[in-house]
Amino acid sequence: MPETSSPARPALALGVDIGGSGIKAAPVDLLAGEFRAERVRLATPQPATPAAVAPVVAQVLAGFTDVPADAPVGITFPAVVQHGITRTAANVDPSWIGTDAEALFSDALGREVQVVNDADAAGYAEAAFGAAKGVKGVVVVTTLGTGIGSAIIVDGKLVPNTELGHLEIGGHDAEKKAADSARERHDLSWQQWAKRLQRYYSHLEDLLWPDLIVVGGGVSKKHEKFLPLLDLRTPIVPAGLLNDAGIIGAASLAAARRRG
Ligand code: BGC
Repeated sequence: MPETSSPARPALALGVDIGGSGIKAAPVDLLAGEFRAERVRLATPQPATPAAVAPVVAQVLAGFTDVPADAPVGITFPAVVQHGITRTAANVDPSWIGTDAEALFSDALGREVQVVNDADAAGYAEAAFGAAKGVKGVVVVTTLGTGIGSAIIVDGKLVPNTELGHLEIGGHDAEKKAADSARERHDLSWQQWAKRLQRYYSHLEDLLWPDLIVVGGGVSKKHEKFLPLLDLRTPIVPAGLLNDAGIIGAASLAAARRRG
């Protein structure tokens, strides 16, 4: 076969990131792990019920007319997503529990989609293109935001739906104490917050013995304020893709599923 024949894997996929305040999307170059066009963002409707969110996802994608109609579509959601069904609702509208999110979005878009947990998407992208690229062994990616999301990637393969933000530490749901929203809510200094993170990440490394911990979420932009305050045996580094990780990961996972 000549090298110019159509590639075995699609070069382009669409990624959508559904968050508490915004729904963002972009076409992703799957080889480079980069956006092919400017990201589009619309506000997340409130209340963010399935019926309200689905048409907004269709709207954010409507502008990408250059992308082939059969390109894979990956969508992140901040909850456990088991085989397309959203199973939990720690920080989202409770009506998502038990919703067939893949059927919902496929109907709204008129095309096949894959729905994945937000941290899983971000973690997968970090392993493929970001801070954990080429790392062998066990990588734990955590996202510090409204909640704490987690992804475990073993030699590049994702173990989906780990919910390590909900480890119980000192009788508390860890994310209630150590998420970035807890820092903001309680107006914690970086030192005060780092103490909580220390407790969280020590517990995590004692349970999983990862080779690398990656810290994502918006606050990872300010990593120099808190990562140097942590004392862990595991190397811990900021995410490489920041806000783009969810979209890139969702698009990549959808393309990987298509390839089978
Ligand atoms: C949810 C996770 C999600 C994380 C980050 C947690 O509260 O349970 O599924 O990945 O927040 O959004």
